[in-house]
Amino acid sequence: MIELFEVTKRFGSEAAVDGISLRVEKGQLCALVGTSGCGKSTTLRMINRLIEHSEGEIHIDGQPVRRFKEETLRRRIGYAIQSTGLFPHWTVERNIGLVPRLLKWPRDRIQARVEELMSLLGLPMESFADKYPNQLSGGQAQRVGVARALAADPDILLMDEPFGALDPITRETLQFELRDLQSRLHKTIVFVTHDMDEALRLADHLVVMRAGRIVQQGAPLELLRDPIDAFVESLLGGEDRGLKEAALTPVSHRMLPLGPHPIAQARIHRDASLHQALAVMFREHVDRLTVVDVEDMPVGELTLRCLVGVHRGEPGA
Ligand SMILES: Nc1ncnc2c1ncn2[C@@H]1O[C@H](COP(=O)(O)OP(=O)(O)O)[C@@H](O)[C@H]1O
Ligand SMILES: [Mg+2]
Repeated sequence: MIELFEVTKRFGSEAAVDGISLRVEKGQLCALVGTSGCGKSTTLRMINRLIEHSEGEIHIDGQPVRRFKEETLRRRIGYAIQSTGLFPHWTVERNIGLVPRLLKWPRDRIQARVEELMSLLGLPMESFADKYPNQLSGGQAQRVGVARALAADPDILLMDEPFGALDPITRETLQFELRDLQSRLHKTIVFVTHDMDEALRLADHLVVMRAGRIVQQGAPLELLRDPIDAFVESLLGGEDRGLKEAALTPVSHRMLPLGPHPIAQARIHRDASLHQALAVMFREHVDRLTVVDVEDMPVGELTLRCLVGVHRGEPGA
């Protein structure tokens, strides 16, 4: 869906982005991570041509973006940023309808779309339509920013640290909502963040950047298991890397069939993470859990040994 071939951006003689190649499949969420100034925002903004690339090629569906008309870029690519970019003197309703108005949609279609988006993002029309951005909490303003980015139903969504300014709880709620939205709407998303935990939680494809280059990319679990160098390893949390891997691995991947002995009292859902299972063992002072399905029926067991990967897959270990 989105491909970058050896893309470089120079500001003067400095390369902010230096020969990066990247491919984002349709429906994937790709997270760009790296320390401040490594070229994440520049990369994102070259995709919707807020910044023109100096060298290389950027393709969307096999077509070079250089040849896209401005209207096509607006219609196909939504853009959400940390500061939300909402117009302070416009109501929420007017802010969300911005792109459809630029695209000259008829009034009633805009109205219907704004209503649909507000309900999708949990912002009831009657309470929020006439509010101004300064009357919103940080989390509400971010939701409006995301609604606005989705307004023209683009197939691509570019998000630049959209939750960066939020408190950890609101942030986690919006991360969860974004995943949920993603699973329903199947957008292709490129998400910039400097927060590795956020990237690990959200990404299908994780891209680590440093000084304008891509150091490593792949599935989050691949990077956690096999970071290419000390820089990637430290970004991934150093010693905590194993716990992050456990947080991304479901219990069902390590559980054993039910054994002949009486089932353990303490239970864990098969879709819970190994990290959650470990927390239950720690709290209950046990080394064996019964794994249950949605109906709370036992479907297997998880021992501490199989959780950590000793004698993997060997029944009764
Ligand atoms: N418009 C600009 N003019 C000159 N230099 C810029 C411009 N935008 C970004 N840069 C430089 O390019 C580098 C990458 O910036 P940016 O993509 O914003 O990084 P990030 O989003 O990863 O923090 C930085 O060194 C920054 O100072
Ligand atoms: Mg940035």
